[in-house]
Amino acid sequence: MARLSVFTSGNGSNFQAIAERILKTKHTIPCMICDRKKAYSFERAKNLVINSYYVPYFGKTKESAEEEIIGIIEKEKIDIIALAGYMRILSPEFVERYKNRIVNIHPSLLPKYPGTHAIEKSYASGDMELGVTVHYVDKGMDTGPIIRQESFTRNRCEPIEEIEKKIHNLEYATYPEVIEKLLDSYK
Ligand code: GRF
Repeated sequence: MARLSVFTSGNGSNFQAIAERILKTKHTIPCMICDRKKAYSFERAKNLVINSYYVPYFGKTKESAEEEIIGIIEKEKIDIIALAGYMRILSPEFVERYKNRIVNIHPSLLPKYPGTHAIEKSYASGDMELGVTVHYVDKGMDTGPIIRQESFTRNRCEPIEEIEKKIHNLEYATYPEVIEKLLDSYK
């Protein structure tokens, strides 16, 4: 039985999809960590009966915010960290400390379109193959080793809203499954 923590910053729909799958397994999600007070992910955590922690970065150094996070991770004995819409870049020290234990989902076929606005960039590119990437987190921005990519062929007349929906649905189908496998192989 492995212990997962999910880090969020906003809506938390991936967190919800992950929780719905993982809570049915032998693994547990002792906590969700979020850096934005008004994030909807807190509401989701409450409904899912998952403990949540608010760890803002505002008014402190990244180092001290991360110390706080490390305190939680150690206290809750977390094995794997899943970033799900977490809008912070973790320091090299943090990433090194939890090497091969932090994963992320990105809404493009990396290495294409790392960073923010990946869906808009993918859409505007005219690429016919669009998709999502689950990868380990390293010191770079969306550069870590790729674990899984899933894609679909776009239809030229689809508006961006349709593409967005398809990408998010692909995330919800892919990320929880990859996380479950990781947890299975961890313990
Ligand atoms: C997702 O598209 C994820 O790929 C990206 O940020 C978005 C988060 O959405 N990293 P949500 O908070 O999970 O609804």
